[in-house]
Amino acid sequence: MSNILVTGAAGFIGAFLSKRLLDQGKTVIGIDNCNDYYDVSLKEARLKMLSGYDKFTFIKMDIADKPAVDKLFADYGFEIVVNLAAQAGVRYSIENPAAYINSNMIGFFNILEACRFNPVKHLVYASSSSVYGANKKVPFSTEDMVDNPVSLYAATKKSNELMAHCYSKLYSIPTTGLRFFTVYGPMGRPDMAYFGFTNKLLKGETIKIFNFGNCERDFTFVDDIVEGVIRVMDKPPIVKTGEDGLPIPPYAVYNIGGGRPENLLEFVDILQQELVRAGVLPKDYDFDAHKELVPMQPGDVPVTYADTRALERDMGYRPTTTLKEGLRKFAEWYKEYYL
Ligand SMILES: NC(=O)c1ccc[n+]([C@@H]2O[C@H](COP(=O)([O-])OP(=O)(O)OC[C@H]3O[C@@H](n4cnc5c(N)ncnc54)[C@H](O)[C@@H]3O)[C@@H](O)[C@H]2O)c1
Repeated sequence: MSNILVTGAAGFIGAFLSKRLLDQGKTVIGIDNCNDYYDVSLKEARLKMLSGYDKFTFIKMDIADKPAVDKLFADYGFEIVVNLAAQAGVRYSIENPAAYINSNMIGFFNILEACRFNPVKHLVYASSSSVYGANKKVPFSTEDMVDNPVSLYAATKKSNELMAHCYSKLYSIPTTGLRFFTVYGPMGRPDMAYFGFTNKLLKGETIKIFNFGNCERDFTFVDDIVEGVIRVMDKPPIVKTGEDGLPIPPYAVYNIGGGRPENLLEFVDILQQELVRAGVLPKDYDFDAHKELVPMQPGDVPVTYADTRALERDMGYRPTTTLKEGLRKFAEWYKEYYL
């Protein structure tokens, strides 16, 4: 029986990816350190969603713990590894940079080393649209230069791509990095804008819209990300030999994004409508009185916009969920979970 490892399985994307794989009858080993970067009860709720599956095993552990990672790989002999465990968030990397070095650098290094000594058919790992920094050229293509990160978070994600390239080249490990673009949906991350806005509006607080509303984000619904990851998992880059007789690294990087950037003010407008529709907020809520337009925050970027042509070409897939559909699902989940 082939085992799949999902790291960060109690996380937002990891839990939904695990669920989809389990629904397909796959055997999934999920690991997570369940840290308290955000409300741990949400991580517990996600694990509860997975607990009914016989083919799911959860192990609470840290990918920065090398002996534990080595033992895990030796015990299970994974066929496919999907590394989603990471310290996420751009702003928190200013407050707590060490968390990023631990999970995203040391943790990822441990995963690479484990794949080196316990060969896998494919290592898929989360990168991020943040690697594009403040690039002006849109849409962002994986062909573009990404050497100017504006946050430590982005620097660790770009470093992961470099480290993966090196391990693909030296040890012929097939690796694919996925640059996710602002993922949202039910059971999402409370540190992200749409979730934070909802919490604040519900408490009657004012929401801050950065860069005076002149931000555009390429939002991607979580189910679309999961579909993209699953398609990629099944198609590892092929090991080829170059003209010099040396192996060409089986290495790939793709964007997974909606490919339709939305202005933040329009996004908030749709969110408001869906929160009212789901009954999270009353019909007569005075939204204008609870909005404040403020300048950019350090580490933030004004626009993200994915060029998804490579993903379409190689995987025959591009995200399709509209913001209205996706935010409707979020609002309905929020109502059921919190109210
Ligand atoms: N959500 C997005 O918009 C987005 C965008 C770009 C990239 N990503 C990347 O996708 C991946 C998943 O993101 P998410 O939104 O599901 O975040 P998440 O924080 O919900 O999930 C990450 C999980 O990893 C766990 N984790 C962190 N450090 C760990 C460690 N050292 N050992 C074991 N577990 C650890 C956390 O407890 C968490 O449950 C991350 O790598 C993130 O950087 C997410």
